Amino acid sequence: MRIFSGIQPTGRKHLGNYIGAIRQYVDGQQRAALGGGLAIFCIVDLHAITVAYDPAELRQRTYDTAALLIAAGLDPASCILFRQSDVPEQTELCWLLASVTAHGDLNRMHQFKEKSETQRELVSAGLFFYPVLQAADVLAYRCDEVPVGEDQRQHIELMRDIAERFNARFGDGRELLISPEHRIPEVGARIMDLQDPESKMSTTAASEEGTIYVLDEPELIKRKLNRAVTDSDDPPRIACDPDKRGVTNLLEILAACKAISPDEAAAELADARGYGDLKSAVSDAVIEMLAPVRERYELIRADEQALEESLLRGAEQAREIAAATLADVRSAMGVGPVG
Ligand code: AMP
Ligand code: TRP
Repeated sequence: MRIFSGIQPTGRKHLGNYIGAIRQYVDGQQRAALGGGLAIFCIVDLHAITVAYDPAELRQRTYDTAALLIAAGLDPASCILFRQSDVPEQTELCWLLASVTAHGDLNRMHQFKEKSETQRELVSAGLFFYPVLQAADVLAYRCDEVPVGEDQRQHIELMRDIAERFNARFGDGRELLISPEHRIPEVGARIMDLQDPESKMSTTAASEEGTIYVLDEPELIKRKLNRAVTDSDDPPRIACDPDKRGVTNLLEILAACKAISPDEAAAELADARGYGDLKSAVSDAVIEMLAPVRERYELIRADEQALEESLLRGAEQAREIAAATLADVRSAMGVGPVG
């Protein structure tokens, strides 16, 4: 079993990233170790430059993200953790795969549509091409499993199509590229903004109040959750219901923290007096889950040189795998000298 995922070094990572993705990375690393597989995680700086950004900040955010992943439990000695731009094989593969990617499919990507609307100065061609690079990220490593949140479902489907189209066109009966499966968690795959439970929690949200960051202090987490939007049902009703987005989101967060189902989380609160009890149960669970990560982070982030060395070592290991795939792809496509 081989697992791959990518995460952008943009902004501060939030509770949605943690529950939807980062936690599954750590689980994937463990499962890979037990099953003799390999877990590979990439900080995708080349994806981050497809929207407006600050170059000096990008480098800092890359270290922030690496430190956070390590603090959350990724161990560079038992997985491969690296920075995308250190492996040029991925970018070359992106271009080669572009020849089996349908323009019409890229046009249909939700994330492209959403992100293009928020760009004031320029909608870059890079933003349009983003999913092809993402496909190259995964296909370069011939992975079978990709842990991601719900918002990445369409991108994973696209990379499956790209792999299949590539094999059909150039594989000569062989499965040169592997079509990966997504691994989207059952609970917490789409954590919503606390102030606006109709929108997903995100770094670019309108208000800081609706977003819990992994590194937020416990007091701040408590305050944000206390102010979370619920509803005006009288008497208050703690239950999962599409008409109760705020309450459902809180139950989903509680369930994800405690590894139970949202309905079970609601059942545990059967004696609650109101939404205040729900909010404090969620606060306690979130604080307990994130505290160890925040405590480890400071120490790891302080040593930039160690982080840099660790990323470079990861890239060396990654390049070895990606170069072998790229050689097969070039050869099948008739690109370059006879191999
Ligand atoms: P990004 O920071 O955009 O690179 O996202 C990193 C990972 O977090 C991806 O796998 C996303 O699917 C996941 N993710 C982002 N936002 C959320 C959210 N609100 N709920 C659950 N997962 C999320
Ligand atoms: N597009 C992903 C996101 O926004 C990040 C990403 C880049 C990724 N390459 C990947 C995720 C490969 C999974 C596999 O979250």
